[in-house]
Amino acid sequence: MSSENILIQAGLADKPRKSRWPARLDLLQGGTGLFLALFMWLHMFFVASILLGKDVFWSIAMFFEGYFIFGGKSYPWLVPCVVGFVALMLVAHALLAVRKFPINYRQWRTIRAHTSQMQHGDSTLWVWQVYTGFLMFFFASAHLYQMFFWPQDINPYLSADRFWSHGLWPFYLTLLLAVELHAGIGLYRLAVKWGWPNASRQTLLKVKWTLTGFFLVLGLVTLAAYMKIGYEHRAHVGERYTPDWAVEKKEGVHRGGEQ
Ligand code: HEM
Repeated sequence: MSSENILIQAGLADKPRKSRWPARLDLLQGGTGLFLALFMWLHMFFVASILLGKDVFWSIAMFFEGYFIFGGKSYPWLVPCVVGFVALMLVAHALLAVRKFPINYRQWRTIRAHTSQMQHGDSTLWVWQVYTGFLMFFFASAHLYQMFFWPQDINPYLSADRFWSHGLWPFYLTLLLAVELHAGIGLYRLAVKWGWPNASRQTLLKVKWTLTGFFLVLGLVTLAAYMKIGYEHRAHVGERYTPDWAVEKKEGVHRGGEQ
C-alpha cells in the first residue's frame, strides 16, 4: 500500500502538517524506560549483596554515602541525589506512558478483542505492562519517598527490620513482581520496536523470560534473606549494624556533621 493510501485510511490525509512530537515523546518514553530498567538491574545486584553477608551490603551502602572516599566519614545526603534523579526519570516516564493508557470503554473493548479473541500475545504483554505500570505509580513512589528522606536507614539491620518488624514484606513482594514484569516486557517491546538485537520475536521472548526469571528468583531469594535477618533481629528493632572492623578502626562510624 502506498504511503498516501495509508494516510487516507488513517484519516490523516487532510492534516495540514504532520507533527514530529509524537515520535519525539515516544523516543523519550523509550529512553527513560531503558534507563530505569538498566538501573533496576544494577539496583537488584546492590540489594542482593545482602546474600553475600551483612558486611558486603553495609560496605556498598556506605560507599554510596562516600564513606570510603572521605576517609571514614559518611554523608547520607549523597544518596538522595541519586534517588532524586531516579525519581525524575520515573515521573517523566510515567507522564509519557500515561498518554498510552486506554481511557474509555471503546479503547478497552478494542484491546480486549486483541487479547481474548485474537489471542495476540504481544497485546497481552502490553496489557500487563499497563497494570504493573499503574501499580508502580503508588508502590515505587512510596519506596523512593522512604529512600529520599531516610537514606541513613539503608543498613543491613534497619532494611531487614522494614521487611519483618515493620511488616513491609508484602509491599516489597508486590513491587518486585510489578517491576520485574514491567521492565522485562518494556525491554522486549523496545527490542521489537528498534530491531536491536536483530533476532526473531521467539528468540527475544525467550531471552526476555530468562532474564525476568533470573531477576525474579534473585529478588525472591533476597526478600527471604531480609525477612530472615529481620526475624532474627526482631528484639532489637531500630538498632543499626556496623561491622566489627569498622567499629575497631574508627571507634564507630562518624556520620558527616556528627561527632
Ligand atoms: C524505580 C525505582 C525503584 C524500584 C522500582 C525499586 C524496587 C525495589 C524492590 C522491588 C525492592 C525489594 C527487593 C527484593 O525484595 O528482593 C527494593 C529494595 C530496596 N531498594 Fe529499591 N527500587 C527503586 C529505587 C531505589 C533507589 C533509588 C534506592 C536507593 C538509592 C533504592 C534502595 C533500595 C534498598 C536499600 C532496598 C532494600 C530494602 C530497604 O532498605 O528498604 N531503591 N527496591
